[in-house]
Amino acid sequence: MAESKQFSCNPLYGAPVKEISSWRNEASLSQGGPEAAIPEPILEKWQKIVNLMAEMLDVPSGLIMRILGENIYVFVSSSTAGNPYHPGESEHFLGSGLYCETVVTENRELLVPNALFDEAWRNNPDVRLNMISYLGYPIRWPDGKPFGTICVLDCKTNSYSEKYKRLMTQFRDVVEIHLEIIYTESKRREELERLVEERTASLQVAVAQQAEANDRMLSEISQRKRTEEFLRRTQDDLARISRITTIGELAATIAHEVNQPLSGVLTNGNACLRWMAGVESNSPNLEEARQAVERMIRDGKRAGDVIVRLRNFFKANGGEKKSLDINEVVEGILTLVGHELERNHVLLRIDLCDRLPSVQGDSIQLQQVLLNLILNAADALAEVVDRPRELTIVSRAESGGVRVEVKDNGVGIENEKMESIFQPFYTTKASGMGLGLSISRSIIKNHGGQLRVQPNDGPGATFSFTLS
Ligand SMILES: Nc1ncnc2c1ncn2[C@@H]1O[C@H](COP(=O)(O)OP(=O)(O)OP(=O)(O)O)[C@@H](O)[C@H]1O
Ligand SMILES: [Mg+2]
Repeated sequence: MAESKQFSCNPLYGAPVKEISSWRNEASLSQGGPEAAIPEPILEKWQKIVNLMAEMLDVPSGLIMRILGENIYVFVSSSTAGNPYHPGESEHFLGSGLYCETVVTENRELLVPNALFDEAWRNNPDVRLNMISYLGYPIRWPDGKPFGTICVLDCKTNSYSEKYKRLMTQFRDVVEIHLEIIYTESKRREELERLVEERTASLQVAVAQQAEANDRMLSEISQRKRTEEFLRRTQDDLARISRITTIGELAATIAHEVNQPLSGVLTNGNACLRWMAGVESNSPNLEEARQAVERMIRDGKRAGDVIVRLRNFFKANGGEKKSLDINEVVEGILTLVGHELERNHVLLRIDLCDRLPSVQGDSIQLQQVLLNLILNAADALAEVVDRPRELTIVSRAESGGVRVEVKDNGVGIENEKMESIFQPFYTTKASGMGLGLSISRSIIKNHGGQLRVQPNDGPGATFSFTLS
């Protein structure tokens, strides 16, 4: 009742039923797990049970008490006259000295016919509410945890017959069956939530891993692209430097290629002047003079050609591929090295097929490949003293493209060196860089072809590449 000091009054005291139920559910919801919220239809049934209980046993109070946290609450209270207990009132449970504390902690029926005559119960808090007799039973969740009690209280002596006790345990059993339903349902929902959470978490992990993998892949791709671009540029630079060094070594022979036509120009110029002055026959011989001028023009063009080729050869690569005639590429490079071969007493054989398909390529790069193969052959031939030094350059049509061979009968290559000669910086020459073949191989590879070497049946080696 209001004068009770033991029960703290719930702020919802006297509030409409709906709000009381929402308190109940909030309170129990906060416990979670098996101490689940009691659904409204079940609460209504419990209300009927306690009403019936109080009516049948003819007492002012029929209660279902519930333990939540450290407190015990009046959970459902009979709507009977003189009932001093109201839903929502609570008391700190342990040490409260309430009848219900004994029922719950000892998990047993408790019958107190009259507390006033019972030393153990005389001072219990309910006595102060004038509730001197008590019959109560523990209510348990299916997992054995205490839910609370179901009990009746009277303000007069009451011994409650066996019949009433049986009735009370029947009511208790009904309440426990309800709890079992709630418990099973809440367990099922918990399991479901756990499963959903688990799946969501593993999905999230999978999504995060996938995103991470994508990021990694993207950065690897862009890193690889950057590296490839860097390598390509380095290779181009290297190829150009190597061209310049090679040409530097060929300076003498190139000077000769230019000087020869220039001295031709001089000779023919002088001859022309003589023919015009008529030094030989006392009258100008215009026909001879014309022929001398024609030779001058031819030589001038030849020297000009060499200069143009040289300039092209020094240029940085545009990497630009055009449709070209491979025979012209071969002939172009021979104008630069022809004299060098002659000087080294190399017998040059040129066997070019004149019905070749055109190929897509960068003529400067392809000339660089040929130049290196020819100079390598010349070096290999330089050591030959017991036989004629022969170099053969062949072009053939092959499976829709062309094949070019550079064959020498020089010192040859040991079988186990066939692959290492393509490694960068592999050289057997005092002044070699060991870059020629590795650059040549990557140029041909960039053209979609292959550069290979084979030993000859006789002495020497044959290098060949394919293009399409
Ligand atoms: N036709 C050949 N006959 C025999 N050995 C060869 C022939 N061509 C290449 N080699 C060997 O392969 C090595 C590597 O050749 P590569 O063209 O890569 O470098 P290099 O000629 O030594 O130097 P450079 O960088 O000036 O070209 C040569 O040093 C030589 O030992
Ligand atoms: Mg070389």
